[in-house]
Amino acid sequence: MLRIAVFVSGRGSNLRAILDSPKLKDLVTVEVVISDKVNCPAFEIAEEFSIDTYYLSRKEGSIQYSDLIKYLRSIDIGFIVLAGFLKMIPAELIQVFKNRIINIHPALLPSFGGKGMYGMNVHRAVFNSSAAFSGATVHLVNEVYDAGEIIAQRSVDITDLNSAEQIAERVLKLEHELLPDVLEQIALKKIYFDNIETKSIHLIDKTDLISNVKK
Ligand code: GRF
Repeated sequence: MLRIAVFVSGRGSNLRAILDSPKLKDLVTVEVVISDKVNCPAFEIAEEFSIDTYYLSRKEGSIQYSDLIKYLRSIDIGFIVLAGFLKMIPAELIQVFKNRIINIHPALLPSFGGKGMYGMNVHRAVFNSSAAFSGATVHLVNEVYDAGEIIAQRSVDITDLNSAEQIAERVLKLEHELLPDVLEQIALKKIYFDNIETKSIHLIDKTDLISNVKK
């Protein structure tokens, strides 16, 4: 069983997708849901599923990640999933969980990523770019926003859509499929991260980003 911690800042629909996924039932357990927002709706989902929650409170103005690391170790967390977590992950946490932190991003990275590219900002940028496709990306987390190795992507045609909101809705459906699929592959050890320097990652459905522009 892969014991994961899910980091969230908002509504938690990807958290729910993990918890509801039949394919993950015997493979993955969400041990704790962690947030920097004390009242985030995702905490209510955690409570609904009787999962522990951990609020990243601030001491003297900043989050004490060393306390969090101790806690994650104490409950034997093997993997971290960022599902709508808006804070930058500090180097000390990345080092402890090297190649064991993934993030889901609501666009086809490396396009439409980086600082400030979250939520509707992403979908508005995609809409304004005249891209023919958008999609979802799962990637490893490193010290730079949205710049870790891409593990998997899934794309969707958006040429028939007329607003950023419609793109967001279509992409979210993809996210809810892609994230459980990737977690299944990780739990089954079909994706390995330890030898990432030697490119031993198995890519699932990695999208060709060339020609992603409406004609
Ligand atoms: C998702 O679009 C995810 O890709 C992004 O933040 C959003 C979180 O949505 N990182 P939710 O909280 O899972 O509903």
